[in-house]
Amino acid sequence: MDINRYPDANMEALRETIAQREGLHAEQVLLGNGSDEIIQMLLLGNEPGTCVTPAPTFVMYNLISHWVKRSMATVPLGKDFSLDPNTFLQVCAREKAVIAFLACPNNPTGNLWPRDTVEKIIREFRGLVVIDEAYAPFSESTYTDLIAPDVMVLRTFSKLGWAGLRLGYVLGDAKVIADLNKIRMPYNINSLTQASARFFLQHRDVFDQQARDICHERSRMMASLMGMADIEVFPSQANFILLRVKDADSVFEALKEKNILIKNMHAQGGLLSECLRVTIGTADENNSFLSALREVLA
Ligand SMILES: Cc1ncc(COP(=O)(O)O)c(C=O)c1O
Repeated sequence: MDINRYPDANMEALRETIAQREGLHAEQVLLGNGSDEIIQMLLLGNEPGTCVTPAPTFVMYNLISHWVKRSMATVPLGKDFSLDPNTFLQVCAREKAVIAFLACPNNPTGNLWPRDTVEKIIREFRGLVVIDEAYAPFSESTYTDLIAPDVMVLRTFSKLGWAGLRLGYVLGDAKVIADLNKIRMPYNINSLTQASARFFLQHRDVFDQQARDICHERSRMMASLMGMADIEVFPSQANFILLRVKDADSVFEALKEKNILIKNMHAQGGLLSECLRVTIGTADENNSFLSALREVLA
């Protein structure tokens, strides 16, 4: 690599490769330093007005809205983490919202809302809907077919095993992407990341297989967890599973004592009370987690 030179600021080749895979044009792709950076660009660059998200969902929508001084409204999910499109649309109308984020599948709940629900929101909301597909590789679902001036799809390399690379992209209407590109830092994707991403895309089948292996492990984990007493296991279309136990803090600490670190969601309260989120790992890691959890719960 000519590391003494500035990177290719427009990343034509990489954007073209991504576009081809998605059946789109390079002008419909914008790259970010992780999808976090793209969420920031969207919240910074969109016209002033409220951002609406379901709750609970990925925390960065809320945090970044706060940082860029954009007002935020949330719509609580049902007890089973379902999303009522009518309530969502009512809140959007009441707040005169201009942007909404829907993580499909959702984080940290792991579920995927029915396509009808998402389509209704896209059809009736009078603003930009960003469908965040960070976990789509584990769900076999995508909304790229609905891309339009008011519908964008966000993707990341992170959940495919390359979180350290920091590379995400958004797919959208060419004019909207061109506008968003005006507030992108010129060299936001460094040369080494660009080269690594090209390598990744040449070996995409390896990473797709890895995602399939994770889905297989997820089914195995799900079956084992459902056989345990005193646990509520929520369905997942992501690379993690959300569980509810009787005392999340003490289960979390006891697992940590056994060198197993998962995510304790209990502090967020509300629907996430007594919830823990475990990421699917290798078969060995998953077995260690399952046997440690069995011991802790006993
Ligand atoms: C729904 C969702 N979107 C985006 C991201 C951020 O991804 P990235 O690593 O590309 O910034 C995450 C990370 O956990 C996520 O859960």
